[in-house]
Amino acid sequence: MKYFIAIISVVFFLSSCSKDTEIISNTTTATINEYAPVNPPGWPAPVYNFSNNDVTYDKFMLGRHLFYEPMLSEDTTIACGNCHQQYFAFTNGPDHNVSHGVHDLLGKRNSPALFNLNWHTLYMWDGAVNNLEVQVLAPLANPLELNLSLSNALNRLSKSTKYKNLFKKAFGDTVVDSQRFLKAIAQFMGLLVSYNSKYDKVKRGEDNFSASEKNGYDVYKIQCQYCHVEPLFSDYSFKNKGLPINLYQDSGRYRVTGNPSDQFKFKVPSLRNLAFTVPYMHDGRFVTLDNVLTFFTTGVANTPNLDPFMAIPHTVSVQQKSDLLAFLNTLNDYKFVTDPRFKEIH
Ligand code: HEC
Ligand code: HEC
Repeated sequence: MKYFIAIISVVFFLSSCSKDTEIISNTTTATINEYAPVNPPGWPAPVYNFSNNDVTYDKFMLGRHLFYEPMLSEDTTIACGNCHQQYFAFTNGPDHNVSHGVHDLLGKRNSPALFNLNWHTLYMWDGAVNNLEVQVLAPLANPLELNLSLSNALNRLSKSTKYKNLFKKAFGDTVVDSQRFLKAIAQFMGLLVSYNSKYDKVKRGEDNFSASEKNGYDVYKIQCQYCHVEPLFSDYSFKNKGLPINLYQDSGRYRVTGNPSDQFKFKVPSLRNLAFTVPYMHDGRFVTLDNVLTFFTTGVANTPNLDPFMAIPHTVSVQQKSDLLAFLNTLNDYKFVTDPRFKEIH
């Protein structure tokens, strides 16, 4: 934080000088805002608010390097960024219904999109992780993902000149420890905030919905809002939406709690950025939004704990369907998926 304040005073000083320095001061001001945590107006308070993890440019940049670092996998082939790619809103992309880790091993679940993570109460499709700062430990330890112990990961980093420098910049000395490692990646993930879709612009009074988008918004409110709550388009609760049980017999939240009333419940994902996050659901079973809507009206399975809202038959006319798709399209944030702050870096 001190770093930012120092820059701000330099900016004020420079901006009174000449035309040239004015340009410099503008970019510097942008830099300050760009690396500060974002809480868009009208959104609920975030669950993870960096209260113990002061965001600085250098810590964020360390986190960004770590996110794209294949050294953090057993065979040095896979980074977080392989399964979570920016252009796909940090999912694994259209070719992977389930994740693809070290030694070409396949997981059993679809890589979720990573954005607006600070508002989740629990992480993973089943809520197995309860804090953004420890999230990283799960893919590291997973034999089908990175398969590297934390101590090995830290050991590799502490031998690297590049990381000695990055840790020094971020924390003042070259010590590589788990606290620093976890906090830096949490800063990168916590700044992945997507709030510049057309929907957001309409809410800010900067744009207008077309007639079809407006009608689709009404359909959304009747059919989807119950779980996919605005403005995040999820309440991040766990619900059984009625998907037929998959070949892995994945029972979702039950795997974590052992509570029969949690069987087949999965975390409600956001409806933001669906244009980039194909395929859909915890196992990537649907490849189009049309498939999702066909399931919604004709495919709901009556499995244990089916949400009462889904037990009622839902009808969506052809017109309503096309309006709803138009509305869902307003939730795509092109700025987010091309934001240079989040691009792959080595
Ligand atoms: C081999 C692919 C793979 C790699 C590598 C990987 N992930 Fe993931 N990630 C997944 C999958 C699959 C899930 C969902 C797992 C589940 O629900 O059980 C997930 C879940 C997550 C979540 C939770 C998102 C949510 O909505 O709850 C976060 C955050 C995350 N990963 C960050 C990371 C970070 C940071 C790294 C690198 C240290 C990483 N991932 C490496 C595949 C991967
Ligand atoms: C009863 C709660 C509920 C309602 C109502 C609901 N959903 Fe969902 N939705 C969920 C849950 C839970 C999941 C995750 C299911 C899974 O993967 O097992 C989900 C997943 C999705 C996904 C996949 C997203 C991704 O990242 O993979 C899409 C798309 C979706 N819903 C769209 C809709 C639309 C459109 C509507 C309204 C027509 C709707 N949902 C209504 C609970 C609901």
